[in-house]
Amino acid sequence: MTILITAGPTREAIDPVRYLTNRSSGKMGYALADAAAQKGHRVILVSGPTEIDVPDGIDFIPTESAADMYQAVEYWIGKADIAIFAAAVADYRPALIAEQKIKKSGDTLTLELVRNPDILGSARSTFEFNGVLVGFAAETEDVEENALGKLERKGCDLVVANDVSRKDIGFDSNENEILLVYPDRIVPLEKATKEHLGHLLIERIIRLKNAS
Ligand code: PMT
Repeated sequence: MTILITAGPTREAIDPVRYLTNRSSGKMGYALADAAAQKGHRVILVSGPTEIDVPDGIDFIPTESAADMYQAVEYWIGKADIAIFAAAVADYRPALIAEQKIKKSGDTLTLELVRNPDILGSARSTFEFNGVLVGFAAETEDVEENALGKLERKGCDLVVANDVSRKDIGFDSNENEILLVYPDRIVPLEKATKEHLGHLLIERIIRLKNAS
């Protein structure tokens, strides 16, 4: 099977030397890519900037901003049977990118931000993807409720929810603890390394594809 995976953070340029980003390390997405490749699947990894070596045997598509990632996914998703969105994509970007480095001037500086496209939210509606669609939900409160909302709004078959207010799991840690939110049930997976969870998730996602 061919599996497209998004991973890592995005960088939204402010000027030639500055950008807005987030705390995603890419560890969860790369663990999924590695687990899928080990099972013999073709993996297309669309990744924001990370410090992780690309696992062997993977088609690697490097991206930087949310707009780059959107374009890469738009191009590749038609080749995939399964799409898993583990990237932490910026919801907003600066309205204008300054051509020159912004100089210090007043005591405050106001940046105007505009909405980025929702890549996961475009999968069904715009890219007309009809394979198995898996989103992530990074939440700091009401984890189940928010994940269920994302599942329904974005037409996912599964949303993997994690509580990113905890320091021991979620962003940048080596471990995670997740809730698998399906349309008809919620299955908790206990805290484990992202590598281990990557294998468990790929197993379950392949099962969803085989049952579809
Ligand atoms: O990279 P790590 O350090 O391992 O951390 C990643 C993680 C462990 C936190 C990972 O599990 C995770 O939750 N990734 C998704 C983080 C996120 O941005 O979630 P969200 O709730 O903001 O977005 C919901 C979903 O929509 C995600 O699948 C996201 O990829 C997708 N999205 C969001 C905004 C956007 N403009 N386009 C998108 O595709």
